[in-house]
This record gives sequence, structure tokens and C-alpha cells, in this order.
Amino acid sequence: MPAASLPLHDPDSRGFASDNYAGVHPEVLEAIALANGGHQVSYGEDVYTEHLQEVFRGHFGEQAQAFPVFNGTGANVVALQAMTDRWQAVICADSAHIHVDECGAPEKVAGLKLLTVSTPDGKLTPELIDRQAYGFDDEHRAQPAVVAITQSTELGTCYTPEEIRAIADHAHSLGMKLYVDGARLANAAATLDVPLRAFTTDAGVDVLSFGGTKNGLLLGECIVVLNPDAVHSIKYLRKSAMQLASKMRFISVQFEALLGTDLWLRNARHANDMARRLYAAVKDVPGLEIPRTVQANQVFAVLPKEVTERLQKRFRFYTWNEHTGEVRWMTCFDTTESDIDTFAAAIAEELAAA
Ligand SMILES: Cc1ncc(COP(=O)(O)O)c(C=O)c1O
Repeated sequence: MPAASLPLHDPDSRGFASDNYAGVHPEVLEAIALANGGHQVSYGEDVYTEHLQEVFRGHFGEQAQAFPVFNGTGANVVALQAMTDRWQAVICADSAHIHVDECGAPEKVAGLKLLTVSTPDGKLTPELIDRQAYGFDDEHRAQPAVVAITQSTELGTCYTPEEIRAIADHAHSLGMKLYVDGARLANAAATLDVPLRAFTTDAGVDVLSFGGTKNGLLLGECIVVLNPDAVHSIKYLRKSAMQLASKMRFISVQFEALLGTDLWLRNARHANDMARRLYAAVKDVPGLEIPRTVQANQVFAVLPKEVTERLQKRFRFYTWNEHTGEVRWMTCFDTTESDIDTFAAAIAEELAAA
């Protein structure tokens, strides 16, 4: 019997702050329950983690190897550490999660130097990469070894398969490797309407993280190695970075629920559709500016600060840039059409009152 005081929140209340605010998709919870009971070998030697390898190979090709971890920061830190040596560096956009949102973990835990480049839309290009891809062989400069991109990006944009191919070719021609932070890889696949491998394996990506938490899991991400020559010591690095789950079957079975069916795509499509619905509902509202293309499950908007403050009393969402007044509205697999319509109406109402 659960404690009589549960639940402690209103299970019907949803906001627009983050896809991390959402709960667990019922099909995932069901899969966890099915994997429960009895004993299984710990630390990844269970049948669920073994079967997961087949599932990932089905999406990413025969050479793919999946390493489940607890969270996205852990996936980034372990993967980047496995792709580099102590004197090497990672080139990334200055808006990259690894640079702005991981409390310096890539520097502190992985001991990496991040070489950042400013971008107009969160996306790197071969030309932008060249702003930091120099000094090879110069012992005074941390050696650029990896290009890290995010798909879909922190600014809600998506790379096309051709753009990723161009980055991979460029990185490889300079002796570097390509890593993709795929915390929202599913959202990008839904937008591009192509299989996952079309813009990863087939585009020359060496290693990626596949995000589960934002797409309906309770918790869990996977590092996916597509090019085994691009990494070293990954299993030791995962453990020493405290990302080796003892009861790994419960992370793996969640990914089985997501990627062993079309749930990953259903969830991502739905979240993206809800962002597009919100965009369509507010784009012509006087006083509101939408400064970025809506390509995944995020809508960015600029509106007067006092309107933001009033709206934030009614709905959860984050101010993205205090200076410009830009805010971020994020949709999830469980956002409903009526959530969007209510929110859009509130935005129009608050702007009209301003
Ligand atoms: C682009 C990106 N990468 C990685 C992460 C992983 O974060 P966490 O360590 O909170 O799971 C996030 C979470 O917001 C993200 O947006």
C-alpha cells in the first residue's frame, strides 16, 4: 500500500519549463514492472542489457555498442573522456550543454579543455570549427581532438544529415573525431523524418549519447559507440565516473521499451507537434517575437519582462536570456493540445493587458 499522503503533487498539472519535468511514459513503467522480480546479474551483465545491444544495432548498425548511464552529463563526460587523451581538447558551440550547463564537469571530471565557438543558431559548421581547429602539433595548445555537436541543439534547431556529414568529413580530415550530444536525438529524427542512422552512423558520427530521460524514461541515457576505434577504456571510465548502474537492467529495459518499439518516435513527434502548435498559436500575437526557427520541441520568444513575470506566476518556464528577455517554452511527450491552447490564450491575454 502506498503512503496515504501520496501523491504530493497535482498529477494533471504541466508546464513549459523542461522535458525533464515530465513523468514516465506508462509503457516504460510497464516495462520496468515486467523486468522486476527475481534476480539478475548486476552491473550490466543482465539479459536486458545484453538484448539492448541488439536493439541499438537495429537502429545504428552492426558495429554499434551501447553503454547505459544514469544521466546526460555523465554520458557526455564519459564519452568525451573515452575519445581523448589528457592533453586534448573538444571544440563545441558556446551554447553547448557541455559548456554552459554541466557545472564544468567535462573540465573537472574528464580533465578536458573546451574550445568554444559562438554560433548564430547553436549549430557548428566546418568554417566555425576552423576558428578553433588550429595549433596541431603545438605543445603549448591543448590539442583539438573532438568536435562535439548537439542534435537537436540547445536552441531548438536541427542539423540536416548533409550538415553532419560535412562536419564529420571536416573533423576527420583534420584528424579529429565527431561526438553528438543526443539528449534530444529522437526529436531531431522526428523533425528530419529519417531513420536515426541517417544522420549519425551514415553521416560519419563516431560516438553519440542517446537521450532517454527527456523522451519518457524515468532516467537513463546511453553512450553509443559507432566507431570502436574512436574510444578507449570506456568501461573503466564509466565506472570511475560513477556512471555504472548496479541494477542496470532497469535502465536497459526502459530503452527496450523506447527503442524496441516506435515509442521513441511517437513521443518525440508528439512533443515536436506540440511546439509547432504553440508556435502557430502565438506567432502573430502583437508584442511577441519568435527569434528562432522552431525545429524540435522548443519555442523561444522575446516578450516584455513584466509579461514574462506575470505568465511565470501561472505557468512554469525559464527565462533563457535575462539581458534580452528571451524565454524558452518546452513541450514534452505528455503535453496536451489543451495545455497548449490554454497557455497560448494566457500569453495573448497577458500581452494585451501590457
Ligand atoms: C543538450 C543536453 N545535453 C545533455 C543534457 C543532460 O543533462 P542531465 O545530466 O541533466 O541528464 C541535457 C539536459 O538538459 C541537455 O539539454
